[in-house]
Amino acid sequence: MTIAIIGGGVIGLAIGWRLAQRGAAVTIFERATAGQGSSNAAAGMLAAACETEPGEAALGALNRASLALWPDFAAELEAASGIGVGLRREGTLLVALNRDDAAKLRHDMAFQKSQGIALEWLTPAEAREREPYLAPGLAGAVFSPGDIQVDNRRVVAALVEAFLRAGGVLHDHAPIERIETAQGRVCGVATPDGMHPADTVVLAAGAWSGAFDLPIASPPVQPVKGQMLAVRMDAAAPLLRHVVWAPRAYLVPRADGRLIVGATVEERGFDTRITAGGLYALLDGAWRALPGIEELPVIETWVGFRPGSRDDAPILGPSALPGLQFATGHHRNGILLTPVTADAMAATILSGQADARIAGFGADRFDRLRSAA
Ligand code: GLY
Repeated sequence: MTIAIIGGGVIGLAIGWRLAQRGAAVTIFERATAGQGSSNAAAGMLAAACETEPGEAALGALNRASLALWPDFAAELEAASGIGVGLRREGTLLVALNRDDAAKLRHDMAFQKSQGIALEWLTPAEAREREPYLAPGLAGAVFSPGDIQVDNRRVVAALVEAFLRAGGVLHDHAPIERIETAQGRVCGVATPDGMHPADTVVLAAGAWSGAFDLPIASPPVQPVKGQMLAVRMDAAAPLLRHVVWAPRAYLVPRADGRLIVGATVEERGFDTRITAGGLYALLDGAWRALPGIEELPVIETWVGFRPGSRDDAPILGPSALPGLQFATGHHRNGILLTPVTADAMAATILSGQADARIAGFGADRFDRLRSAA
């Protein structure tokens, strides 16, 4: 079976790796450099527990299914690539800075616990026992032991290596000009170098997925801009060890001393500008939770584009065009959803039957919404 994947981010790479492991001939076409878009910009929080919100039961279940796969996926990926992916299990603290924040956290926690998620309420003293540099006046915190993190940039490097070692072919700087069709089904893709035949084409182009000229409705995906920054901690005596969610910023400490602060949420198309307002909002949000951050040198600022779908859930599985599969729209959870997306998409493509784990996440749900309107 010959498969062309459009997009060399974590989703395209992981699907490609799984398919190549099973003997398929897989080529990934990446418009820029593999893994250097949203996959590079992400923070790597696998926040299936603490990001669970009312009204997103199916997505929450998919997120938690993928979180459960991550430890084995990471170990297999490290073995296949020889590259460590920096999985850390300290867990996440959601910090309340005042009584209103605390009321909101308690409200969310009640819902999350009803979904079977293990969470613990911490008094201010208990939170500061875990993280002594948190703001002295905090009103409490929720500890989420099940939320872990990986270093997404190392995951990218590992997936590229594992995919290539499994026999996959990767073309960087290979923008897709057309998805080719014949007799009503997909038969390949065209790049500036020519036509590349394929039995199946997987559209995994993240925030760029809505921009292709298709004979069917394009997946409804738009870029959702996020500005981020990193400061340098002393790796031997870090200011923070847990992932921390403050009301207006999250903080993600890496083993090498980088502390990532994210992220704005902006609907501005593919605007790559770093703005004073964006950085101010992030630093103010981080400083209110962790005042000691003001001493740390800023070492990087960047912008990423979340692939936001119309209902914030991913779009997975067969499209209305035979041979064309969608794997896009992962919005805030692309790194988290990588293992389940890869396994379910590979199973779907190889068997010809939509995998049960992604039932309900097909693009046809938007047709149903349209006809119900
Ligand atoms: N998942 C974190 C973010 O989207 O900013």
